[in-house]
Amino acid sequence: MSKPLRIAVAGLGTVGAGTLRLLQNNGAAIAARAGRSIQVTAVSARDRGRDRGVDLSGMAWFDDPVALARDAEADVVVELIGGSEGPAKVMVETALQTGRHVVTANKALLAHHGTSLAALSESVGRTIGYEAAVAGGIPIIKGLREGLAGNSISRVYGILNGTCNYILTQMQGESAGGGNPPAGRDFETVLAEAQRLGYAEADPSFDVDGIDTAHKLAILTALAFGCEVDFEAVHVEGIRNVSALDVAYADELGYRIKLLGVARQLNGAIEQRVHPCMVAKELPIASVSGVFNAVVADGDFVDTTMYEGRGAGAGPTASAVVADLIDIARGTTLPVFGIPATELTRRPNLPMAEHCCPFYLRLLVIDQPGVIADVAAALRDEDISMESMIQRGRAEGEGQAVPVIIMTHETEEAHIQRAMARIAELEAVVEQPRLIRIVDL
Ligand code: NDP
Ligand code: HSE
Repeated sequence: MSKPLRIAVAGLGTVGAGTLRLLQNNGAAIAARAGRSIQVTAVSARDRGRDRGVDLSGMAWFDDPVALARDAEADVVVELIGGSEGPAKVMVETALQTGRHVVTANKALLAHHGTSLAALSESVGRTIGYEAAVAGGIPIIKGLREGLAGNSISRVYGILNGTCNYILTQMQGESAGGGNPPAGRDFETVLAEAQRLGYAEADPSFDVDGIDTAHKLAILTALAFGCEVDFEAVHVEGIRNVSALDVAYADELGYRIKLLGVARQLNGAIEQRVHPCMVAKELPIASVSGVFNAVVADGDFVDTTMYEGRGAGAGPTASAVVADLIDIARGTTLPVFGIPATELTRRPNLPMAEHCCPFYLRLLVIDQPGVIADVAAALRDEDISMESMIQRGRAEGEGQAVPVIIMTHETEEAHIQRAMARIAELEAVVEQPRLIRIVDL
């Protein structure tokens, strides 16, 4: 067998410790597949004294991850610290500049600096493996870059954040309790539970505000369409405004609410958007629940393909990190985004204002004559056609509010936004109207 592939690992948290554990548990099978063993020569983290639950004996310790990237005896540097700037970025650049391959799970880093890091890696003849950065254990990078390499991809979309999918699934509740529609559980309650269970970060904003999904989408977009990574071009909305009432009405109307990242190419331009979507219950992606992720890619010859699995956690993410290490050990290295970085194109963005789809609107209005006429006038003036409307029962007392649900026919985004702004100004509308796009997948 050839000499071992030597790796240095920076970050010994959930993913770093998981990666070491996987390498220790499955070492023999990995060596057989890689054609040589994978040997951890050095590690770095902040707190040297912390018990990581893995055996670190024989590994050099570095307090400074940049020093590890520069000085460790390693062929590959594995970055599992996180963050788009700071030590993660500097250590990845240092590793490449000193002739090491890089493996990382850091989607924020690649979303912000993917194009320049790919160019740097290719200029020094090294690669960056990032299977773990998108959808955890699902081999979607390999799937797009190799499995679907013969296709022209028209669209890629998916559930890319396990925390949000867990929250939205839990908000469905048991559909019990006798309400009409039955009340599920509200966002804040389920978020607190997700934090307790360790799914959501202590600062959950990257997850629930859609940023983590947008990071992953920007990476998938570059890979699927051969364009530069353009995180700034992603339209991003999170799930904070989705209420238990919306989830219950969606259920009644035949939908599930999912936070999707959707990227599409149309006439040479690219659309990238992240927002809550109403997805028909019978679609396969509607059944992806809890912390699971799913990615769908449409290719011209393969048609629609879907990949599902665990998108986070020590085991699934380590599985992806080690897959990249095995590829490097075997000598299988490919251009980071499927084509040379210098050939990645810069494409125009399809403006969100021109996006067209049917909408779900939820208003909270004072139950009095004329309110619906005013709402309908705002929709009429923007050429928006209603498909259906629900208002059940009456408010219990004078001046009290009731929910009104309106489903529209296909409408251009700019029109619905103008109508929403006008409806929000009506005196009888007591809460910012809520809008969820209905997607036709
Ligand atoms: P953790 O917070 O669990 O671990 C981060 C590790 O980095 C810790 O060991 C920490 O050291 C170390 N660290 C932080 N700052 C420094 C520094 N300045 N110098 C040296 N070490 C440092 O993060 P995760 O393992 O969850 O995430 C790691 C990466 O993987 C991130 O990019 C994340 O987005 C990505 N990822 C995570 C997934 C998950 O399920 N957790 C899934 C997919 C991707 P110490 O332990 O001493 O504090
Ligand atoms: N916070 C992320 C999630 C981790 O919930 O999916 C995986 O990237």
